[in-house]
Amino acid sequence: MSKGLFISFEGIDGSGKTTQLELLRQRLEAEGRSVVAVREPGGSPVAERIREVLLDASIDGLNPVAEAFLYGAARAQLVAEVISPALDKGSIVIADRYLDSTLAYQGYGRGLDKGFLNQLNQMAVSGTIPHLTILLDLSPAEGAVRRRGTVPDRLEQEGLAFQERVRRGYLALSCQQPERIKVVNAAQLPEKVHEEIIYLVTTYLKP
Ligand code: TYD
Repeated sequence: MSKGLFISFEGIDGSGKTTQLELLRQRLEAEGRSVVAVREPGGSPVAERIREVLLDASIDGLNPVAEAFLYGAARAQLVAEVISPALDKGSIVIADRYLDSTLAYQGYGRGLDKGFLNQLNQMAVSGTIPHLTILLDLSPAEGAVRRRGTVPDRLEQEGLAFQERVRRGYLALSCQQPERIKVVNAAQLPEKVHEEIIYLVTTYLKP
Protein backbone atom coordinates (compact mmCIF):
# COMPACT_ATOMS: atom_id res chain seq x y z
CA MET A 1 0.00 0.00 0.00
CA SER A 2 1.39 3.44 -0.92
CA LYS A 3 2.06 6.12 1.69
CA GLY A 4 0.15 8.93 -0.06
CA LEU A 5 -3.46 9.97 -0.31
CA PHE A 6 -5.40 9.80 -3.57
CA ILE A 7 -8.47 11.99 -4.15
CA SER A 8 -10.38 12.20 -7.44
CA PHE A 9 -13.01 14.70 -8.58
CA GLU A 10 -15.88 13.65 -10.82
CA GLY A 11 -18.97 15.27 -12.30
CA ILE A 12 -20.59 16.29 -15.56
CA ASP A 13 -19.15 19.03 -17.73
CA GLY A 14 -19.61 22.40 -16.04
CA SER A 15 -19.94 21.00 -12.50
CA GLY A 16 -17.03 23.08 -11.22
CA LYS A 17 -14.49 20.30 -10.65
CA THR A 18 -11.55 22.29 -11.88
CA THR A 19 -12.33 25.30 -9.64
CA GLN A 20 -12.86 23.12 -6.59
CA LEU A 21 -9.74 21.09 -7.25
CA GLU A 22 -7.71 24.28 -7.40
CA LEU A 23 -9.21 25.57 -4.13
CA LEU A 24 -8.40 22.26 -2.43
CA ARG A 25 -4.87 22.25 -3.82
CA GLN A 26 -4.23 25.77 -2.50
CA ARG A 27 -5.62 24.90 0.90
CA LEU A 28 -3.52 21.73 1.27
CA GLU A 29 -0.37 23.45 0.04
CA ALA A 30 -0.93 26.30 2.50
CA GLU A 31 -0.83 23.63 5.23
CA GLY A 32 2.61 22.64 3.92
CA ARG A 33 1.52 19.37 2.31
CA SER A 34 3.00 17.98 -0.88
CA VAL A 35 0.27 17.98 -3.55
CA VAL A 36 0.35 16.65 -7.10
CA ALA A 37 -2.61 17.75 -9.25
CA VAL A 38 -3.42 15.94 -12.50
CA ARG A 39 -6.20 16.08 -15.05
CA GLU A 40 -7.68 13.37 -17.25
CA PRO A 41 -7.38 12.75 -20.06
CA GLY A 42 -3.82 14.09 -19.95
CA GLY A 43 -1.45 14.96 -17.13
CA SER A 44 1.68 13.53 -18.75
CA PRO A 45 3.32 14.29 -22.12
CA VAL A 46 2.06 11.10 -23.80
CA ALA A 47 -1.40 11.36 -22.26
CA GLU A 48 -1.68 15.02 -23.33
CA ARG A 49 -1.11 13.87 -26.92
CA ILE A 50 -3.92 11.32 -26.56
CA ARG A 51 -6.09 14.11 -25.08
CA GLU A 52 -5.70 16.15 -28.26
CA VAL A 53 -7.38 13.36 -30.23
CA LEU A 54 -10.09 12.71 -27.65
CA LEU A 55 -11.26 16.30 -27.33
CA ASP A 56 -10.81 17.40 -30.96
CA ALA A 57 -14.29 18.59 -31.98
CA SER A 58 -13.38 18.24 -35.66
CA ILE A 59 -12.99 14.45 -35.33
CA ASP A 60 -16.15 12.75 -36.52
CA GLY A 61 -17.03 9.09 -36.10
CA LEU A 62 -14.55 8.00 -33.42
CA ASN A 63 -15.63 4.44 -32.63
CA PRO A 64 -16.93 4.19 -29.00
CA VAL A 65 -14.74 1.18 -28.20
CA ALA A 66 -11.71 2.94 -29.68
CA GLU A 67 -12.63 5.99 -27.60
CA ALA A 68 -12.74 3.88 -24.43
CA PHE A 69 -9.34 2.35 -25.20
CA LEU A 70 -7.86 5.82 -25.72
CA TYR A 71 -9.13 6.99 -22.33
CA GLY A 72 -7.72 3.75 -20.88
CA ALA A 73 -4.38 4.29 -22.61
CA ALA A 74 -4.09 7.85 -21.32
CA ARG A 75 -4.94 6.63 -17.80
CA ALA A 76 -2.42 3.77 -17.84
CA GLN A 77 0.33 6.21 -18.81
CA LEU A 78 -0.68 8.77 -16.17
CA VAL A 79 -0.79 6.16 -13.39
CA ALA A 80 2.60 4.69 -14.30
CA GLU A 81 4.35 7.97 -14.93
CA VAL A 82 2.85 10.34 -12.37
CA ILE A 83 0.24 9.01 -9.92
CA SER A 84 1.95 5.86 -8.58
CA PRO A 85 5.36 7.48 -8.07
CA ALA A 86 3.76 10.47 -6.29
CA LEU A 87 1.76 8.22 -3.97
CA ASP A 88 4.85 6.14 -3.24
CA LYS A 89 6.61 9.33 -2.15
CA GLY A 90 3.76 10.12 0.23
CA SER A 91 2.21 13.01 -1.73
CA ILE A 92 -1.46 13.85 -1.93
CA VAL A 93 -2.62 13.29 -5.51
CA ILE A 94 -5.74 15.11 -6.66
CA ALA A 95 -7.15 14.11 -10.02
CA ASP A 96 -9.59 16.06 -12.18
CA ARG A 97 -11.47 12.93 -13.40
CA TYR A 98 -10.31 9.32 -13.14
CA LEU A 99 -11.70 5.85 -13.68
CA ASP A 100 -15.33 6.67 -12.80
CA SER A 101 -15.46 9.05 -15.79
CA THR A 102 -15.05 6.08 -18.12
CA LEU A 103 -17.93 4.20 -16.51
CA ALA A 104 -20.14 7.29 -16.45
CA TYR A 105 -19.40 8.59 -19.98
CA GLN A 106 -18.54 5.48 -22.01
CA GLY A 107 -20.73 3.13 -19.92
CA TYR A 108 -23.86 5.04 -18.93
CA GLY A 109 -23.48 7.77 -21.57
CA ARG A 110 -22.55 5.72 -24.63
CA GLY A 111 -23.98 2.39 -23.48
CA LEU A 112 -20.79 0.32 -23.65
CA ASP A 113 -20.62 -2.89 -21.64
CA LYS A 114 -19.72 -2.16 -17.99
CA GLY A 115 -17.84 -5.45 -17.60
CA PHE A 116 -15.55 -4.50 -20.48
CA LEU A 117 -15.02 -1.01 -19.03
CA ASN A 118 -14.29 -2.36 -15.55
CA GLN A 119 -11.68 -4.69 -17.03
CA LEU A 120 -10.17 -1.85 -19.04
CA ASN A 121 -10.03 0.32 -15.92
CA GLN A 122 -8.46 -2.45 -13.84
CA MET A 123 -5.73 -2.95 -16.42
CA ALA A 124 -5.11 0.79 -16.66
CA VAL A 125 -4.91 1.57 -12.94
CA SER A 126 -3.40 -1.73 -11.67
CA GLY A 127 -4.82 -1.36 -8.18
CA THR A 128 -4.41 2.40 -7.84
CA ILE A 129 -7.92 3.31 -6.68
CA PRO A 130 -8.73 6.68 -5.04
CA HIS A 131 -9.20 6.68 -1.27
CA LEU A 132 -11.88 9.32 -1.77
CA THR A 133 -13.85 10.42 -4.82
CA ILE A 134 -15.80 13.67 -4.70
CA LEU A 135 -18.76 13.66 -7.04
CA LEU A 136 -19.91 17.21 -7.81
CA ASP A 137 -23.55 16.69 -8.69
CA LEU A 138 -25.33 19.21 -10.91
CA SER A 139 -28.21 19.16 -13.37
CA PRO A 140 -27.11 19.14 -17.02
CA ALA A 141 -29.21 22.27 -17.68
CA GLU A 142 -27.26 24.17 -15.03
CA GLY A 143 -23.98 22.75 -16.30
CA ALA A 144 -24.82 24.05 -19.78
CA VAL A 145 -25.57 27.53 -18.42
CA ARG A 146 -22.19 27.60 -16.67
CA ARG A 147 -20.39 26.53 -19.84
CA ARG A 148 -22.13 29.14 -21.99
CA GLY A 149 -19.67 31.15 -24.01
CA THR A 150 -16.98 28.45 -24.05
CA VAL A 151 -16.28 26.41 -27.18
CA PRO A 152 -17.68 22.89 -26.66
CA ASP A 153 -15.24 19.96 -26.99
CA ARG A 154 -16.15 16.65 -28.68
CA LEU A 155 -17.93 15.22 -25.62
CA GLU A 156 -19.66 18.48 -24.72
CA GLN A 157 -21.30 18.47 -28.12
CA GLU A 158 -23.31 15.39 -27.16
CA GLY A 159 -26.22 17.36 -25.71
CA LEU A 160 -28.36 17.35 -22.57
CA ALA A 161 -29.79 13.80 -22.82
CA PHE A 162 -26.25 12.40 -22.92
CA GLN A 163 -25.21 14.54 -19.91
CA GLU A 164 -28.33 13.35 -18.08
CA ARG A 165 -27.35 9.69 -18.60
CA VAL A 166 -23.85 10.51 -17.39
CA ARG A 167 -25.20 12.23 -14.28
CA ARG A 168 -27.48 9.28 -13.46
CA GLY A 169 -24.55 6.95 -14.05
CA TYR A 170 -22.42 8.84 -11.55
CA LEU A 171 -25.20 8.73 -8.96
CA ALA A 172 -25.60 4.97 -9.53
CA LEU A 173 -21.86 4.50 -9.01
CA SER A 174 -22.01 6.46 -5.75
CA CYS A 175 -24.81 4.17 -4.53
CA GLN A 176 -22.71 1.11 -5.44
CA GLN A 177 -19.60 2.45 -3.66
CA PRO A 178 -20.86 4.81 -0.95
CA GLU A 179 -17.68 4.46 1.14
CA ARG A 180 -15.48 5.88 -1.62
CA ILE A 181 -17.73 8.11 -3.74
CA LYS A 182 -19.22 11.04 -1.83
CA VAL A 183 -21.82 13.27 -3.47
CA VAL A 184 -21.62 17.05 -3.02
CA ASN A 185 -24.36 19.36 -4.31
CA ALA A 186 -22.54 21.51 -6.86
CA ALA A 187 -25.43 23.95 -7.28
CA GLN A 188 -24.42 25.64 -3.99
CA LEU A 189 -22.13 28.65 -3.77
CA PRO A 190 -18.50 27.72 -4.54
CA GLU A 191 -17.41 28.58 -0.96
CA LYS A 192 -20.05 26.23 0.47
CA VAL A 193 -19.01 23.45 -1.91
CA HIS A 194 -15.38 23.98 -0.86
CA GLU A 195 -16.35 23.79 2.82
CA GLU A 196 -18.08 20.43 2.28
CA ILE A 197 -15.09 19.12 0.38
CA ILE A 198 -12.72 20.14 3.20
CA TYR A 199 -14.97 18.36 5.67
CA LEU A 200 -14.80 15.16 3.59
CA VAL A 201 -11.06 15.36 2.98
CA THR A 202 -10.11 16.10 6.62
CA THR A 203 -11.13 12.58 7.66
CA TYR A 204 -8.37 11.21 5.43
CA LEU A 205 -5.58 13.61 6.39
CA LYS A 206 -2.76 12.64 8.68
CA PRO A 207 -2.13 15.38 11.27
P1 TYD B 1 -12.16 18.38 -20.09
O1 TYD B 1 -11.93 19.53 -21.01
O2 TYD B 1 -11.05 17.96 -19.19
O3 TYD B 1 -13.50 18.66 -19.36
P2 TYD B 1 -13.86 18.82 -17.86
O4 TYD B 1 -13.31 20.18 -17.50
O5 TYD B 1 -15.34 18.74 -17.87
O6 TYD B 1 -13.21 17.67 -17.12
O7 TYD B 1 -12.64 17.17 -20.99
C1 TYD B 1 -12.77 15.89 -20.57
C2 TYD B 1 -13.89 15.27 -21.36
O8 TYD B 1 -13.62 13.87 -21.54
C3 TYD B 1 -15.21 15.37 -20.62
O9 TYD B 1 -16.23 15.72 -21.52
C4 TYD B 1 -15.44 13.98 -20.11
C5 TYD B 1 -14.71 13.11 -21.06
N1 TYD B 1 -14.19 11.85 -20.50
C6 TYD B 1 -14.73 10.63 -20.89
O10 TYD B 1 -15.67 10.60 -21.68
N2 TYD B 1 -14.21 9.47 -20.37
C7 TYD B 1 -13.15 9.46 -19.51
O11 TYD B 1 -12.70 8.38 -19.06
C8 TYD B 1 -12.59 10.74 -19.13
C9 TYD B 1 -11.41 10.79 -18.18
C10 TYD B 1 -13.13 11.90 -19.64
